[in-house]
Amino acid sequence: MPDPNDDDGWQAKLELALRERVPVASFTFGLPEPAVFAELTAQGICSVVTVTDAGEARAAAEAGAHILCVQGPKAGGHRGTLDSGKVPGEVPLGDLLDRVRDVCALPLIAAGGISTPGEASAALAAGAGAVQVGTLLLLSDEAGTSRVHRGGLIDAVQGRREAETALTRAFSGRPARGLTNDFMRAHPDAPDAYPYINHVTGPLRAAAAAAGNPEAVNLWAGTGFRHAVEDPAPVILRRLFGLAD
Ligand SMILES: Cc1cc2nc3c(=O)[nH]c(=O)nc-3n(C[C@H](O)[C@H](O)[C@H](O)COP(=O)(O)O)c2cc1C
Repeated sequence: MPDPNDDDGWQAKLELALRERVPVASFTFGLPEPAVFAELTAQGICSVVTVTDAGEARAAAEAGAHILCVQGPKAGGHRGTLDSGKVPGEVPLGDLLDRVRDVCALPLIAAGGISTPGEASAALAAGAGAVQVGTLLLLSDEAGTSRVHRGGLIDAVQGRREAETALTRAFSGRPARGLTNDFMRAHPDAPDAYPYINHVTGPLRAAAAAAGNPEAVNLWAGTGFRHAVEDPAPVILRRLFGLAD
């Protein structure tokens, strides 16, 4: 039975990052204390925080973050809201970048629904210094995407299964976007209870994955999942930036 107070080794990981002087420490799902940012800065470590609205951006900037990853509503997988109880915003990524730019001058990474050269260019034109993609790489050769997850995605892309995404708390207790499946439909009112629901559903998800059943596994995917292809990651990324294969 997992320990409900398990903090995933937060302090030990932080100390390791400081000791090793990693180039970048990136945070999501919450805002570390200003003292943490000060320690990272003192070691020459660049800190990144994922934010999903202007209020979170202001808080992260005031706490001492160096770069913000601005995650829009189309993103696959977990939304990186600082507070798990919050309903994530629906402001489109371009407008969200504008709003964040209005409250802080930090460099921005744009994330969420970027899967074509046009979307990447639009995010850069809207003031981001870089873009981050997740869904676009889910079928890449290098991705650790499980067999059942890959199968679900490929079936969705090829029209053999429902091909809509939705936000759900059903698998982890935190809002996340995935391909709609039976488990999500059965638990539309899953509570704000991360990481407890994550622990509770873990064995169920593992059993479903072992049985090859995509209806009880989190099939994380953003709205751009139709652009995911089975190619090496460098090829996919070069294509995203309009470079030759
Ligand atoms: C399979 C998968 C798992 C993810 N898990 C997390 C997570 O645990 N925490 C988090 O803040 N973001 C998570 N994300 C979101 C990514 O950090 C990123 O914001 C997102 O993938 C960008 O949008 P895109 O998927 O449309 O490219 C996940 C994304 C995917 C595709």
